[in-house]
Amino acid sequence: MDLFEYQARDVFEAHGVPVLDGAVAETVEEARAAAETIGAKSGGVVVVKAQVKTGGRGKAGGVKVAKSVDEAAAAAEQILGMDIKGHTVHKVMIAQGAQIAEEYYFSVLLDRANRSYLAMASKEGGMEIEQLAVERPEALARIAVDPIVGIDAAKAAEIVDAAGFDADVKDEIARVIQKLWDVYREEDATLVEVNPLVKTVDGSIIALDGKVTLDGNADFRHPAHEALEDKASADPLEAAAKEKGLNYVKLDGSVGIIGNGAGLVMSTLDVVAYAGEEFPGEPKPANFLDIGGGASAEVMANGLHIILGDPQVKSVFVNVFGGITACDAVANGIVGALKALGDEATKPLVVRLDGNNVEEGRRILAEANHPLVTIEDTMDGAARKAAELAAAN
Ligand SMILES: Nc1ncnc2c1ncn2[C@@H]1O[C@H](COP(=O)(O)OP(=O)(O)O)[C@@H](O)[C@H]1O
Ligand SMILES: [Mg+2]
Repeated sequence: MDLFEYQARDVFEAHGVPVLDGAVAETVEEARAAAETIGAKSGGVVVVKAQVKTGGRGKAGGVKVAKSVDEAAAAAEQILGMDIKGHTVHKVMIAQGAQIAEEYYFSVLLDRANRSYLAMASKEGGMEIEQLAVERPEALARIAVDPIVGIDAAKAAEIVDAAGFDADVKDEIARVIQKLWDVYREEDATLVEVNPLVKTVDGSIIALDGKVTLDGNADFRHPAHEALEDKASADPLEAAAKEKGLNYVKLDGSVGIIGNGAGLVMSTLDVVAYAGEEFPGEPKPANFLDIGGGASAEVMANGLHIILGDPQVKSVFVNVFGGITACDAVANGIVGALKALGDEATKPLVVRLDGNNVEEGRRILAEANHPLVTIEDTMDGAARKAAELAAAN
């Protein structure tokens, strides 16, 4: 889950990372009121910042300095409702205005390829960092971080040396990046990025913009993270699936997919995409849905309910490998689910069962003889059939 900047700011503050005061506003009136209080702490100057989960807000006109409450209200009026890279601005943050002397860059992230963490730092942060990384990669220090050790004092010193920070700011930056490491580790983040990390004219180091991605797999040990979710803009099907405890990701195609085991479902997506190339409109997978080990009638019905609720879905491919939950139990699950769904089940279902007790499973499905169900023996055959049905519907 990506956080909004204002949420990242709050998390930073809670971990002792130096930040400026900020308040979030959803209307011009709220922005005006926030500018009164926040501006009082920074000589009347505030910065009105679009809160959208994408970078490059500054360049898009979503970050504006305001020297009075009226200017702040006018900026909020302009920014609220603005579209930034396909994201509509529903909130702005009113932040204290900083007097910036220099802009730096720091991030720590999960480095999957090297099975490690990676810290990056540069003296030349700010809005051109992507360009810098491409054109002068040597100006962006990259230091591997051992996951067990993390960023301790020695690692922080190594990072600031590699980035070549000046002597007057080195120690303070090293202190701040250890705090940012605390954020990364204690919140189970996969990314903590500060751009810019600034030196102000009076010499303090402050995180002026923050991007934080939290690892959803660790949600169970962070009950507080639930409050950070952006429920208003969540995909309604994904939200409904989450409520039922289903592992569902909405995609753009027209072939609904249900399988057991993430690996099987991933390969099902590939096989369907490949099979779809043969048919008009090249039907593609409509979703990822892993119903896990226990493919009971209830879980199957929940899964089908979500998938059939997606208006883009034209056919459904149920691909189950019977293991501990044998194929006969899965077949009974499918039959039971179709019964429970009744009139709601309106789209053709292609079922491929294999594994433990497959003969009995196929027999149960054949006997039920549901008009919407086609049984296929192989995964490729079933993918082709599902794509064909999606193309025809
Ligand atoms: N509170 C602030 N005070 C002064 N300048 C700011 C403040 N916040 C941002 N800026 C300036 O605006 C630029 C862009 O803002 P930033 O928050 O980094 O948004 P983005 O990365 O989405 O463009 C920063 O590089 C900085 O120069
Ligand atoms: Mg930024």
